Amino acid sequence: MISYGRQSIDQSDIDAVVEVLKGDWLTQGPAVETFENDLKSYFGVKHCCAVSNGTAALHLTGLALGWHPGDVIITTPITFLATANCIVYVGATPDFVDIDPISYTIDPNQVEDKVRSYKSKGKTVKAVIGVDFAGHPCDWKELRQIADKYDLQLVNDNCHAMGASYFDDKQYAVKYADVVTQSYHPVKNITTGEGGAILTNDPEIDEKVRRLRTHGVTKDPHLLEVNEGPWYYEMHELGFNYRITDLQCALGINQLKKLNLFVQERCEIAKRYDESFYGIDILTIPKTKSSINHANHLYPLQINFEKLSLTKAEFFEKMKQMGINLQVHYIPVHIQPFYHKNYGFKQGDFPVSESFYYRVVSLPIYPDLNYDELQFVISETKQVLDMIEV
Ligand SMILES: Cc1ncc(COP(=O)(O)O)c(C=O)c1O
Repeated sequence: MISYGRQSIDQSDIDAVVEVLKGDWLTQGPAVETFENDLKSYFGVKHCCAVSNGTAALHLTGLALGWHPGDVIITTPITFLATANCIVYVGATPDFVDIDPISYTIDPNQVEDKVRSYKSKGKTVKAVIGVDFAGHPCDWKELRQIADKYDLQLVNDNCHAMGASYFDDKQYAVKYADVVTQSYHPVKNITTGEGGAILTNDPEIDEKVRRLRTHGVTKDPHLLEVNEGPWYYEMHELGFNYRITDLQCALGINQLKKLNLFVQERCEIAKRYDESFYGIDILTIPKTKSSINHANHLYPLQINFEKLSLTKAEFFEKMKQMGINLQVHYIPVHIQPFYHKNYGFKQGDFPVSESFYYRVVSLPIYPDLNYDELQFVISETKQVLDMIEV
C-alpha cells in the first residue's frame, strides 16, 4: 500500500540507534544534548529543548508563555488538533482566523481584524499561533508587525516546514516567532519515531520548558530554598515527564543531516505532480508565494467534486482499491464536536477553510516514493477522476 506519507530510514539511521543501545544511556544521556545542539545550529537559534512529541512542545509553550484562563489565543482552523488543543490544556480560550486562499496559512489581515474586534470589546488577544501548513511558511513579516503593534506573543507551529526557506532563509522561524515548535512524527520531514522540540531565543522560556519537561523539578542552587546535598532537588511548579529518549535523539541526529536532501526529493515529487495536474480545470494545485521555498511536507490537491459524478469518499475508496492510501489535511478544527460544544463554533464560521476542506486530498509525498510509484499515483488519480489523456 502506498501511503500519503512515511519515514525514510537507511542503514546509517539503524547504526546510529544500535550504537546508543550498546551504550550506557537509553534516556537522559548525551544524545539528547547533541540533538538539541544540532537543531540549534540548523535552525539558527540560541535555545532548544527536545521533548517527547510535538503536542508536548505546544503544551509546554503555552505554559511557558503564561497562558491562563481568560486569555484569548488565535490560530488557524486548517491544522492538526494539537495546535488548538494546547490552548485548551492551559485553560485559555481558543479562537480562529480563516486561511489565505493561496498559501492555506492564517490570513494576517483577518488576524488584525480579529485583534481589533476583541479590543473594541475591551478584551485582549494574548498570542497567535501560525502554522506553516504543508510546508509553506506563513506570512511571518506581516504577523510579526501585527504582534509588535498589538503586543501579542507569536508562536510558529513549524511541524510541516522544517527545511523550508522564507526570503532565502532556512533559519527564518525563530527570527519572527517568539517560540517555534516542531514534531518528528514518522510522516514529518525528519523523524525520531515520536518526538518534538521547542526552539526559542529567550533564555527564560527555555529554562521554564526544561523544568516542566521533567516534573517541574530544579537542582539550580539559585532556585533552591535549601540545599541538603548533591542528591537534593526541589519542585516549585507542576511539571510532566515529556522527555525524549537517547534512542530517539540518535535517530534525529542522523535524520537532520539528511533534511536538505529529503526536502529536495519532496520538491521533485511536488514538481512532477504540478506538471501532471496543471491546467486541468477541476483541479487546483498548491501554490507557492514568491518569497518561499516550500518544504513540501504535504501535497494538498484540491478537487472540485461538485463538477464530478464522484464523491470524495468514493474517490478515496477507489484509490484505496488500487493500493493508494490518501489522507485529508485537515478537517477544520472549529467544526470538531468538542469545539462546537464548548466554544460555539459552527459550520460557516470560516468559509475559506471549509471550502478548502471539502475539496482537498493529500497525495503521497515522501523521499522513498520511487518514480514508478509516483507515475502510478498520477495515472490512477487521473483515471479515477476520468481524465485520462487520449
Ligand atoms: C501542525 C501540527 N502541529 C502539531 C502536531 C503534533 O505533533 P505530534 O504528533 O508529534 O504530537 C502535528 C503532528 O501531526 C502537526 O502536524
